Amino acid sequence: MANLLKIQTSLFQQDGQSSRLADSFASQWLEKNPGGTVTSRDLAAQPVPHLDMERFQAFTTPEEERTPAQRAVADFSQALIDEISAADVLVLGVPMYNFSVPSTLSTYFDHIARAGITFRYTPDGPQGLLTGKKAVVFITRGGIYGEDHAQTAYIRQMLGFIGITDVELIHAEGLAVGEDSRQQALESAQQKMALAAQAA
Ligand SMILES: Cc1cc2nc3c(=O)[nH]c(=O)nc-3n(C[C@H](O)[C@H](O)[C@H](O)COP(=O)(O)O)c2cc1C
Repeated sequence: MANLLKIQTSLFQQDGQSSRLADSFASQWLEKNPGGTVTSRDLAAQPVPHLDMERFQAFTTPEEERTPAQRAVADFSQALIDEISAADVLVLGVPMYNFSVPSTLSTYFDHIARAGITFRYTPDGPQGLLTGKKAVVFITRGGIYGEDHAQTAYIRQMLGFIGITDVELIHAEGLAVGEDSRQQALESAQQKMALAAQAA
């Protein structure tokens, strides 16, 4: 049975344009995959705690030596990893905040990029371990920066680092430029979304 993980990050939660696009994708994907399951994670509604030294040390402490508090931290990270590992398809809604991704998403990545679990070091460089997945990412922006932008590159690099290399990025830009620009961008993103949902 196919499993889709939907991750949204807009501070407007369900009302964010990126969340709506991700939602529509999930609904259309479910129509095409009856019996499939959709798991939703809203990083704005339920942010992952910021990574600090104590949390990081919990990750690097051998399992049998962890204190109860460290075990709780590692178990939380492992639950996030189990969730993404179980997904065949990943859909992300990602607005641009201050030229980058929302910090909630960056913090999420801090918790799932774990050496020996989701990637490993090899003589040829790091190797991602979450292979065989497809990701569709909706990037929404108030301005227009194009697809050749550090935000886009970061998302692709981060997903690739953990082994997710089949990534489709759908941009809806210029949402704050004016009503026409906004309508056009959203319509274009919706068309691309429908095609991506058929193909996933
Ligand atoms: C805190 C914050 C920072 C933002 N920074 C940028 C930015 O750097 N560049 C940009 O084009 N739009 C920026 N925007 C606008 C959002 O990218 C835009 O409103 C987008 O549609 C939000 O997506 P959402 O509806 O999914 O939340 C920012 C919005 C907020 C709330």
